[in-house]
Amino acid sequence: MDKIHVTGNGPLRGVVRIAGAKNAALPVIAAGLLSAEPLELSNIPAVKDIDTALKLLELLGCRISRDGGTLSIDSSAVDSVRAPYELVKTMRGAILLLGPLLTRFGEADVSLPGGCAIGSRPVNEHIAGLEAMGAEISIEGGYIKAQATRLKGSHFAFDIPSVTATENLMMAASLAEGTTVLENAALEPEVEDLGKLLNSMGAKVSGAGTGTVTVEGVKALHGARHSVPPDRIETGTFLAAAAATRGSISVLDTRPEFLQHVLAKLEAAGVEIEAGDDWIKLDSHGKRCKAVHVSTAPYPAFPTDMQAQFMALNALAEGTATVIENIFENRFMHVAELQRMGADIELQGHTAIVTGRERLQGAPVMATDLRASACLLIAALAAEGETTIDRVYHLDRGYANIVDKLAELGAIIHRA
Ligand code: EPU
Repeated sequence: MDKIHVTGNGPLRGVVRIAGAKNAALPVIAAGLLSAEPLELSNIPAVKDIDTALKLLELLGCRISRDGGTLSIDSSAVDSVRAPYELVKTMRGAILLLGPLLTRFGEADVSLPGGCAIGSRPVNEHIAGLEAMGAEISIEGGYIKAQATRLKGSHFAFDIPSVTATENLMMAASLAEGTTVLENAALEPEVEDLGKLLNSMGAKVSGAGTGTVTVEGVKALHGARHSVPPDRIETGTFLAAAAATRGSISVLDTRPEFLQHVLAKLEAAGVEIEAGDDWIKLDSHGKRCKAVHVSTAPYPAFPTDMQAQFMALNALAEGTATVIENIFENRFMHVAELQRMGADIELQGHTAIVTGRERLQGAPVMATDLRASACLLIAALAAEGETTIDRVYHLDRGYANIVDKLAELGAIIHRA
C-alpha cells in the first residue's frame, strides 16, 4: 500500500493551480444518465472518486471516452440499473445515480452506501423525496429498489438541507410530470452548478443554490457541454497548508466567492489575503498563525470539509481555540493522529479544544478519510522531522496530483 513521506521543510512558497471540484463533477457525471444524447464535460479532476463514478456508469452500459480533464458520456445504450455494493461502498456519492436512473428508466437498484469513517451517512432524505414524487421504494438485501412509471412533480421540504439529496431530487424532477418544489434545499455552489448544467440540457430549473428550488419537468433532455467549477476545498486546503507553514502562495484557477467564510477565518488567523476574480494570494509574512474558532455548518458557513485542515492549523497556532463539528457525528478521527505528532487537543463530544504548539514532531500516522488525510499532510509539512502517512488512498479519492503540487511549492515529499 502506498505511503507518503514528508520532511518538514518550512514555508510553502509559489503558485498552485486548482483542479475542477470533485463534488461538482460527481453530480454532473450522474446527469449523463438523464439523456440519450452525449454529455461533454471538461475540467474533470483526476481523482479516484471520478474513476469510480465512471466505472459505475460503464457497468450500467454507458460509453465513456476520457481525454485528460475532458469526458464524453453516452448513455444511449444503458442496459442495467444496478449500482453494486462493491463500488458504492468506496464512494458514497454513488447515491447520485438513484434519481437519474429512476426518472429516466423507471427503475433503479442502488446499493445502500452504509456508514463510513465520518459517520452513519443516512439516505432517508433521498428516499423520502423520491417517494413524495410517487416512487415505490423498498430496501432488499442492502439495496434501494425503486420503481415508478413516471415520477410526478411534488412539494418536498428537506428536514436537513442535504447536498446530494437536493441534487438527486433536482435530477429526478427534471424528467418528472409536472412541477416539483424543493424547500430547505442545500445552498452549496455545487447544487447551483448542477442546475446550470440541467438547464443547458433543456431542463427547467430555477432557484438552484437557494433554499427553494423549482423544477418544471420536461419529457426529454438533450446533450450539452459543461465545464466543472474549481474545487473550493482543494483551494482551502492549499491555503491552510501555506498558513500553517508560515508561507506565501498564490492559488490560481479558483473562485474566491465560494470561500468567503474560510478566507475570513484565515484573515482572523493573521495572514494577509488578496483576491481577484479567479485567484487568491496568501502571505503569512513568516509569522505563526493565531488560533481561530471554527464551527461547521452548511454553505455559506464554514464547511465540514475544511474542519480537519483547520484542526491542523490550530494545532500549530498561538493560543487556544475550539473546533466544532456540526454536520457529521464522527469526523474527528484525525485528532488521535495529530496527538501522535504532539498536538494538544481535548475532545468533548463534537467540540475539540485545541491549544497550539510552536512545533509538532514527525511520526508515522494513518489517514482515516479524505479530509483527515489533508489534515495530516498539513501537520507533516509544518512538523520537525519525517512523517509517514499510511492509507493515502483516501487522499487519492479527492486531491489531484497533490504530492507534485506540494513539491512544486517547496515541500520535501514523496510517495513510496
Ligand atoms: N443527512 C441525513 N439524511 C440524508 C442525507 C443527509 O440525515 O438522507 C444528514 C447527514 O448525515 C449530515 C447532513 O445531513 O449530517 C448533511 O449531509 P449531506 O447529505 O449534505 O452530505 P452528502 O451530500 O452526503 C456532500 C459531500 C461531502 C460533504 C457534505 C457536506 C458530495 C459527493 N459529498 O455529502 O463531501 O462533506 O456534502 O457538505 O458532494 C468530501 O468531499 O470529503 C465529502 C465528504
